[in-house]
Amino acid sequence: MNDQQLQTRYQALLDEYQSISSQKLNLDLTRGKPSTAQLDLSDALDGILNKDYSCQDGSDSRNYGGIMGIPEARQFAADYLGTVPERTMVGGNSSLQFMYQIVTGAFFLGVRGPESAWSAEAAKAGGQVKFLCPSPGYDRHFAICEALGIAMIPVRMTAEGPDMDQVESLLQQDPLIKGIWCVPQYSNPDGVVYSDATVKRMARLGKIAGANFRIMWDNAYSEHHLVDNPPRLANILNLSEEAGTLDNVMVIGSTSKITHAGAGISFIASSEANLASLAAQLGIATIGPDKINQLRHMRLLKDLPTLRALMQEHRRILQPKFEAVLKALDEGLAGKSVNGAALGSWTRPQGGYFILFDTQPGLADKVVKLTAAAGVKLTPAGSTYPYRKDPSDTNIRLAPSFPSVAEIEAAMRVFVLCVELATLEKALAL
Ligand SMILES: Cc1ncc(COP(=O)(O)O)c(C=O)c1O
Repeated sequence: MNDQQLQTRYQALLDEYQSISSQKLNLDLTRGKPSTAQLDLSDALDGILNKDYSCQDGSDSRNYGGIMGIPEARQFAADYLGTVPERTMVGGNSSLQFMYQIVTGAFFLGVRGPESAWSAEAAKAGGQVKFLCPSPGYDRHFAICEALGIAMIPVRMTAEGPDMDQVESLLQQDPLIKGIWCVPQYSNPDGVVYSDATVKRMARLGKIAGANFRIMWDNAYSEHHLVDNPPRLANILNLSEEAGTLDNVMVIGSTSKITHAGAGISFIASSEANLASLAAQLGIATIGPDKINQLRHMRLLKDLPTLRALMQEHRRILQPKFEAVLKALDEGLAGKSVNGAALGSWTRPQGGYFILFDTQPGLADKVVKLTAAAGVKLTPAGSTYPYRKDPSDTNIRLAPSFPSVAEIEAAMRVFVLCVELATLEKALAL
């Protein structure tokens, strides 16, 4: 298109944008939360105990105690995370809270007593505790670091997971790098599944890193597939055991996007020594988790095949929503270019909760603001990066799980329009 044609197209889009803005839409593609229909799938939780509160070992789930979780839930966690029950801990409704506790405990109290506290080591060395943050990543992981004053070092993401050359070289240079955030299966937000080679190299990081380094292996989407033959993630716990680095790995999961998001149960797997240290710290804050909820979950989920059947029900609800987003992007933007450059690129995830869209450089924030003014809320641009700074301002995270297909179609019409409008504005230097 020459300048005149670009100007004509821009004017047509602007008219359409003004007409849509006057409709006062109120649509939301921000947070990756399950829809009501998904939550309904687990409503049998309510009343499932029918006054039978006894755990497998005969203990009464209504009473205090049991900081490690009830035995049947630990067995389930072991199957789910790929380990043995002795290396698991089962908690309350939020794996994020577990992660916060792991990081704050290691930072202030130490993983093996006060001498090992990250903050003490940093003070002695006159430096700052740091974390590697594969980016784009999960904003709430980054928020934990920011809240504690842990410096975040962005690491490039590749199609196989974090750039391991960069990770290893950074760790070799700085023993005050104390952790790395990982969402190894269907990464939030780019949907990447770490390759076997990446997981193997991850399992050896404990050999390279400074003391008390922790891989925060947040496997929040391990069973959340959208395809028939899903990619399988290598078992980091087995690989770490072989490498002698089990202490360096904290594997985390929860049922938040399996049963009721706000009322599920959470899991950790690591070495017995790590769990004992964590349990001692946690025991200051609580006498034990909500064991009744753990028992309710075990009566509903039973075993991995039962859980996987439930996840197929989730997929039936989620898949049309992902397809609606992809259809809108394919039909509205694929093959289109301005001055020879594509209008954007996007992921086709095999599972998880997000589609990641990349605008041309410097346009993500503008697109999010344009859609918001037209009544479509998107996750703020930049929020997938440490300190909310996307260096090239291209990333937009689309979360289609909560709205209906009709709402997604309406929201995506606005999104596609805003992407083209913003790109043309830039091309015309308006
Ligand atoms: C990668 C990741 N981890 C953890 C969570 C939150 O998990 P939970 O509800 O168990 O705290 C989310 C929620 O979106 C997530 O995307």
